[in-house]
Amino acid sequence: MSEAIAYAAFRALADGEWHSGEEIGQSLGVSRAAVSQSVALLAEAGVSIERARAKGYRLAQPVELLDPLKLKQLIAREANHRTGPSPELSVMGIVDSTNTRLAGADFIAQTPHALAAEWQTRGRGRLGRRWLAPPGDALTFSLSWRFDDGAAALAGLSLAVSVAVARALTDSGLGYAEGLRVKWPNDLLCHGAKLCGILIEAHGDMLGPTTVIVGVGINYRLHESARAAIDQAATSYVDAHAQPLTGMARPRLLGRNALLAKVIAQLSQALEDFARHGFLAFRDAWLHLHAHTGKSIRYVEAGQAHVGTALGVDQHGALIVESQGHTRVLTSAEVQSL
Ligand code: BTN
Repeated sequence: MSEAIAYAAFRALADGEWHSGEEIGQSLGVSRAAVSQSVALLAEAGVSIERARAKGYRLAQPVELLDPLKLKQLIAREANHRTGPSPELSVMGIVDSTNTRLAGADFIAQTPHALAAEWQTRGRGRLGRRWLAPPGDALTFSLSWRFDDGAAALAGLSLAVSVAVARALTDSGLGYAEGLRVKWPNDLLCHGAKLCGILIEAHGDMLGPTTVIVGVGINYRLHESARAAIDQAATSYVDAHAQPLTGMARPRLLGRNALLAKVIAQLSQALEDFARHGFLAFRDAWLHLHAHTGKSIRYVEAGQAHVGTALGVDQHGALIVESQGHTRVLTSAEVQSL
């Protein structure tokens, strides 16, 4: 069964109402058997779908589909105070990976471009891992940005990106007080569970202009079936937002378009600031959110596992760790809490 038909069936179900296999099949011009196979494919991708003999199929919850016009308006509103240009925006239904697709586009070197997708069939994570993001429950997008000063000037960029996403989440009711933290280099956690992953890929000249593709995946909502398929503790914006907060009113829960617009606007601002001032403009904010300062961590560097105490990050965003009486500066490693 083609993923394109499965995606069309997903859109037909997005309103959260019951739809019979016959009705979906007729609207898509495919058989009831094809609809049933599509539903199986969606379930495999982590979409939570209910079935009932007399009624057909419905999503466990209605989905607010990404709407390019609404997104553009919301980004413009968010970016009101900015001086720099807003990125071009495209929204795709189904794509292998927004990072891969943007890297292959011939326009990326010219202007900043944000590409969001409802469904990534081959989403990529850091260190060659897969990134699972069920359609409708995740926010997945990539933003291309050109930097002129060579690869060395990009040190700390991935940490700056995590600060930008954290600012957008804080503005959306999920900040430090609600347990939001960063794990080196750029994971966003809420009470220790992963909420957002960031994959940064640079294309271009080591010394001259470089086009960077910043890929961001946020768990907007996480159904149990999807959570079980993720090999680490994971949470979502909706779950974390639902935790009671004493003494303070929290901003209302945002829909997918509103949250995505905030993230894209904050990220555009951060990339502009990074181009001008580098990581130093973000270091204090990152350290404030750091999950592990003064804490014991396990880290894997060049395939070797070590235990140490995280001390912070240097002016380039490298992690400073004390281990067996020595201070180590890590530029590439995988960190876990102990
Ligand atoms: C990680 O924590 O391992 C990084 C995950 C990054 C996922 C995002 S989703 C949008 C973009 N496209 C991809 O294929 N990956 C990134």
